[in-house]
Order: sequence, then C-alpha cells, then structure tokens
Amino acid sequence: MGVSVFLFLCTSNLNIFMIAATDILVTKSGRSKLQDLNLDNLPFGRYFSDHMLEADYENGSWRNIEIKPYQPLLLSPSLAALHYGQAIFEGIKAYKDRQGNAFIFRPQDNFRRFNISAERMQMPTVPEELFMEGMRKLVEIDKNWIPSREDHSLYIRPFMFSSDELIGVRPSDNYKFMIILSPTGPYYAAPMRIYVEERYVRAAPGGVGYAKAAGNYGAAMLATAEAKKKGYDQVLWTDAVEHKYVQEIGTMNVFFIIGNKAITPDLEQETILEGVTRQSVITLLKEMGLSVEERQLSIDEITDAYKSGSLLEVFGTGTAATISLIKELRYKDFVMQFDVEKWKTAPTLKKWLTDIREGRREDKYGWMVKV
Ligand code: COI
Repeated sequence: MGVSVFLFLCTSNLNIFMIAATDILVTKSGRSKLQDLNLDNLPFGRYFSDHMLEADYENGSWRNIEIKPYQPLLLSPSLAALHYGQAIFEGIKAYKDRQGNAFIFRPQDNFRRFNISAERMQMPTVPEELFMEGMRKLVEIDKNWIPSREDHSLYIRPFMFSSDELIGVRPSDNYKFMIILSPTGPYYAAPMRIYVEERYVRAAPGGVGYAKAAGNYGAAMLATAEAKKKGYDQVLWTDAVEHKYVQEIGTMNVFFIIGNKAITPDLEQETILEGVTRQSVITLLKEMGLSVEERQLSIDEITDAYKSGSLLEVFGTGTAATISLIKELRYKDFVMQFDVEKWKTAPTLKKWLTDIREGRREDKYGWMVKV
C-alpha cells in the first residue's frame, strides 16, 4: 500500500502497545459494547460494533489507514460532501457457520461495484487491499458481533465521501473512506405491499441509477413517504420517460415469476443497481431449472400476466433485505394480490441463500469468503 503503519493492541482505552507490523494501524477499544446489546431486538442499522475503519485520500494517495474504536467524526460545516453529495456506499454481510467461523458473502463483487460508483461520482477508487483487507481485519476484530441466529448477520457498510473543506462546486481533492459494522436481524420481516410509482423518478439513462450513490436514496424518500401514507411499504420505480417499464423496488432489485420463467429488468439502460443478491438469485433460479430473462418488462405485461393467472410470484432482492416477498402490487387503481403462503420459488431461494450463508448448504459457487 506504500504506507508504513503498525498494528497496535490495547488492554484499556489509553494503554496502547505495539505488537506487530502490518498495513493497518489498529487501536482496540477497552470495553466491548456487545454486553449491552439485546440480541432479541436488532432493527436494521441501529447498533454498531466496537470498531471502525477510517482512511484518508490526500495528495493523490490513501493514508492514515486505521482501525479504531467506533467514534464520532469531527467535520467542518464546509465539508464538500454535505453540500454537493459526493458520497457512495456499499452493503455487505458477514455470517457465522455452525462451527463459529466467520465468512463474508461475495465481498469482491461489492468491491468492484464500489469503485464503479466512485468513478461515476468523480471520486478516487479505493485500492483492493485497503477495501478487502481493511474489511476482513475489521470483521475479524469484531467477529463476536456476528449474530448466530437464523436470518441475522453482521451488516458491513463501507462508504466514502468528499472531505474538502470548501464550498466551490468541483470534485474534492480529499476523501474519507470508512467501514462500520452493524449487527442486524431481518430487514423486511413481513411480506410487502408495493405501489407502482408513476410520478417520481429514481433513475434515468445517463444518470446515476447504477451507482450506489447516497443521493439516490435521499431522492427516493419523498415517493416512499407518499406511498406509505397510502398504506404501502415501498414503491416500484418505473422508467423516467414513459413510466411504463419497471426498474427496482425501493432499495431492492425485483423479480417476477411468470409461468415457468423468472424475469428481472436488465442493466442495459444503466438505471438499475447491479445487485449482488440479484446475481446470486439468477444463478440459483437457473440451478432450480427456471429460465431467467433479463430484459425490459412493462407494467402492462405484468398486469396482463396477473389477469391471465400466469403471474405467480413477485419478490425483491437486496443485501439488507435478502429476499422480500410482495403480497400486493398496486398500479393506478388496479390491485394485484398474492397468497404468498402458496409460493414455492421465492421461499426456496431464500432458504437456499440463507443455508449457503449460514453453512448448511454447500457453497458450490465459492460465494463465502473466510475471514
Ligand atoms: C443494501 O441492501 O445493502 C442496501 O443498500 C439497502 C440499504 C440502503 C438499506
């Protein structure tokens, strides 16, 4: 990495001593907050582990690479990211197998996507060894935070933001890359009701829809809040021009089982996030013997399939959500309802994925990376 730093361990908050040379400066926290955690109640993204990784991009290189006790940042009010939104993130999960070994699910794919987002937002890319080894080491240090219960995991949140203290509109010279960890239970526990959005737009060709840019999520909040007022959990985004072709559901990719085919919107227009769970689900659907089509899918094709009885299942896929069953889809005044209890495909996918992640099913695609 070209940076000369050292591994430190401490026995209490202030008592630091060096034990070995490595690439990342490690300062351990004295007392673990884990003992204060109620493992029966882990809402998504509320609790954070004892440590975090922090690195600075300055003068064209990454430096100050540190794992240290989780703590607030001191930021200037003129911090560029707060004004112009050069900010990106990823979502990855770590699991424990039955022997208590820690694994991370497909981290290389998230690393690749992180740098695709960075390039789109005119930010520096993060070197593989910083992203991957930083994440591995952080998870190793906080591996006791990986919950062992079914459907629980340690959510890994790498993120980067511009850190120039300057409100001129231009790409920053300085950036901060960080990783934090959050133990979490299921994201959407119950089957969802979804409203097909025709007014607001998530992404247009040429835009940033394929990037995991923070602003994509902020920009989605008004539409989601309006759908919630109508009694729905999330929106199904449609294309920016005709509001005819479906894109994503809330923070997830979407799949439709029509007859013996699984159909999911393709990535051609660059309006859709290339989900790691989406890719995994495509692989598992093929293993189940379904034919998978990645293509444009119109809302008319969906309503016609519903009317003819061939629309069998609708579900979202995402790192946080894993697989979320959709029990109702509303397009204008037309309501499509599903008896999710009778479904076979989405529940099987969910079980297969969970079993692979938690070590109960063979990891034949090599998705689980040992920490
Ligand atoms: C993820 O699935 O990791 C996401 O990005 C969704 C998140 C914004 C909750």
